[in-house]
Amino acid sequence: MTASPSPQAPQEPSPQDAADAVRNRINTAQPHTARIWNYWLGGKDNYAVDREAGDRIRELHPGIGDYARADRLFLGRAVRHLVADRGVRQFLDIGTGLPTADNTHEVAQRIAPESRIVYVDNDPLVLTHARALLTSSPEGRTDYLDADMRDVESVLEHASQTLDFSRPVALMLLGVVIFIEDDQEAYGLVRRLMDALPSGSHLVLSHTITSPAMPDVDAAVAFWNEHGTPKLTQRTPEQVARFFDGLELLEPGVVSCSRWRPDTVGDAEPDEVAMFGGVARKA
Ligand SMILES: C[S@@+](CC[C@H](N)C(=O)[O-])C[C@H]1O[C@@H](n2cnc3c(N)ncnc32)[C@H](O)[C@@H]1O
Repeated sequence: MTASPSPQAPQEPSPQDAADAVRNRINTAQPHTARIWNYWLGGKDNYAVDREAGDRIRELHPGIGDYARADRLFLGRAVRHLVADRGVRQFLDIGTGLPTADNTHEVAQRIAPESRIVYVDNDPLVLTHARALLTSSPEGRTDYLDADMRDVESVLEHASQTLDFSRPVALMLLGVVIFIEDDQEAYGLVRRLMDALPSGSHLVLSHTITSPAMPDVDAAVAFWNEHGTPKLTQRTPEQVARFFDGLELLEPGVVSCSRWRPDTVGDAEPDEVAMFGGVARKA
């Protein structure tokens, strides 16, 4: 009698095959947003194609470096406020970007080491650097998911392995819904993510704006959309404010990231940048 063949278990790719698959996804022929952002922030995780486009955009909009730094500093102040003053201990940070100084878990765990953070991004280079991000404090936890934010169910399912969705979570969407072109889709994605979070959760969101006061930003975005990926959609400050509809917007509302509770002392208001942001609480 011959034994019937036992069903084959699906083969896990070897670590080498998995690493090769990720490397094959990295496109060095076209500027990518995570890498150009890293370049403007002074990082080294970028390619010649990103630096060339980054320099061209800087010529079109010389304020671009301030805009990127203002966004990161806004992230730091918002996380510090949520942890220190509002008791938030869980963060879902979508569109993480390449690791830089003061990533969400570093700011949160400096104040509350038990904080838990799930990072989500769909860029393969961010994935290859994810290990560096995953250095949680021993008391807390960090996790990384390689996914598109449009895949809301997978994001939430994976995040629920680290975050307790019966307790408040801060949803961090910094410089990422700009890559969702369709307005209804963009507003719908933010609403679906916030709907999954309990009362006491918060939304932290920043977004590139279009404003008659900053016409050079439109030229820089047009250049990006011709050469870079993914394409970027600007919205007016009023359109950005709509992402917070139904939530309690914290003071000072949706403003230039540089003007959201700045650390600076004195009377001088920081310069406005083309990145607006706000923080809101779910009742
Ligand atoms: C401009 S960077 C912002 C990085 C970081 N949040 C910050 O504010 O410094 C945008 C990031 O969003 C990621 N991203 C763009 N579209 C995405 C999508 N549909 N799903 C997940 N991540 C996305 C990019 O890969 C990139 O890392």
